[in-house]
Amino acid sequence: MYGADISNTHPDSRWQNEPGSTKANRFRVGAVADVVGRTALVTGGTRGIGAAIAKALRDADYAVAATYHGNDEAAEGFEAATGIPVFKWDVADDEACAAGVAQIAATLGPVEILVNNAGITRDAMLHKLSSEQWRDVIETDLTACFNMCRAVIPGMRKVGYGRIVNVSSINGQKGQLGQTNYAAAKAGLLGFTKALALESAAKGITVNAIAPGYIATDMVAAVSQKILDGIVAQIPVGRLGRPDEVARAVLFLASDEAGFITGSTLTVNGGQYMT
Ligand code: CAA
Repeated sequence: MYGADISNTHPDSRWQNEPGSTKANRFRVGAVADVVGRTALVTGGTRGIGAAIAKALRDADYAVAATYHGNDEAAEGFEAATGIPVFKWDVADDEACAAGVAQIAATLGPVEILVNNAGITRDAMLHKLSSEQWRDVIETDLTACFNMCRAVIPGMRKVGYGRIVNVSSINGQKGQLGQTNYAAAKAGLLGFTKALALESAAKGITVNAIAPGYIATDMVAAVSQKILDGIVAQIPVGRLGRPDEVARAVLFLASDEAGFITGSTLTVNGGQYMT
């Protein structure tokens, strides 16, 4: 957990780094050189889609760190079950992001893959939406992406390599009743992604977005069953997506091999909305 000594939390000794360790001394014989040694950071990485992304990256031999903010119990369970170190901070807080990224760099290595996944909903029709519900969602779902990118981009520019994947949403593409805040934040991520992709392309850094549809997570489970049944009826594949189906798409965009893909939005929504 952030602030604690996490240097020996991973059951696999290849991630038990000495302070000041470098990519070179973390290299593992027999592994894929391009991947081993790269550090990936997944925000909101202990539950739902983020947890699936963190596990997929770990399974692909990245050194992974996962952040969370609220649910200590889930985070501790995730860390114990996966061996992926977890760090606690509020991604809406820019100073906390800078400090957290620095701590992960010191323990696992400089962050070369950033997945901005942390997100919340505060659904209400606009005429009932409070300023607080608006602000919470914009800060956590959009400003946090700025905070995290600003924390990692200087390091990525310095080494000439980086992969940033921003988790947007189908509802940022098409809008959704009750989600003016969330749709605005998630649409904002798409513009942010394209602008940062342009700024970063010549530096070996790609910046892409994923737009998941309705995925079987706690966030979607919060929608009433009646409304959810109506939504599932609009999904041509005929079911909710699974977190691992989104993770697979993120893994692809995070790979070295995806170096010619930048500024794009990859849709994973069972055909519910085709752009
Ligand atoms: N399409 C069309 N009309 C809808 C609708 C829909 N999806 N959902 C509700 N309505 C209608 C209702 O029938 C109702 O109409 P009447 O007044 O004529 O009866 C009107 O809109 C108001 O709806 P509610 O009675 O539900 O109003 P409420 O204030 O109790 O609740 C709400 C509003 C909280 C927004 C609720 O409608 C809701 O939860 N909607 C679903 C929002 C949603 O899809 N959230 C996604 C969460 S998951 C996520 O965000 C992950 C992701 O990236 C996909």
